[in-house]
Amino acid sequence: MKNWIELVFPGTSINVSFARAVVAHFAAQLDITLDELEDIKVAVSEAVSNCVVHGYREKEGNVVIRASYEESRLEIIVEDFGHGIPDIEVAQETGYTTLPEERMGLGLTFMREYMDELHIYSEVEVGTKVVMVKQIPARQAG
Ligand SMILES: Nc1ncnc2c1ncn2[C@@H]1O[C@H](COP(=O)(O)OP(=O)(O)O)[C@@H](O)[C@H]1O
Ligand SMILES: [Mg+2]
Repeated sequence: MKNWIELVFPGTSINVSFARAVVAHFAAQLDITLDELEDIKVAVSEAVSNCVVHGYREKEGNVVIRASYEESRLEIIVEDFGHGIPDIEVAQETGYTTLPEERMGLGLTFMREYMDELHIYSEVEVGTKVVMVKQIPARQAG
């Protein structure tokens, strides 16, 4: 069975933990381990934080999350309509950040590490969309 949710909210920091919790509860419908759930929470927090901190820096707008699963494939899409990323390759370098005073430049690295797939689509002053996939294999009881 395919199941999905869509979530739209203003891109402010107060909503980051809320979004993480909602996606985690949705993912918990699968036969998921606590470790896998932690991976998903980190990835969603990082993705939504990026929308807030970078996408909507000195700007306002909404974040859209679409989460879905079918069989063992869990897909989470996090999208903003903010500043965008000029060079996606450079942005993904571990430790690269455009806000060195306050950020560590590890978010995209964590997202790639903790999920099975990460796809980033971005256009300057149009927005950014990250598509993350995690495989949650069905487990035998006992
Ligand atoms: N949603 C986004 N909108 C605009 N820029 C982004 C977005 N996500 C990431 N970036 C850019 O990619 C860089 C690296 O992101 P990340 O690895 O999460 O590190 P950090 O958030 O600590 O800077 C950011 O500093 C920013 O320049
Ligand atoms: Mg980040």
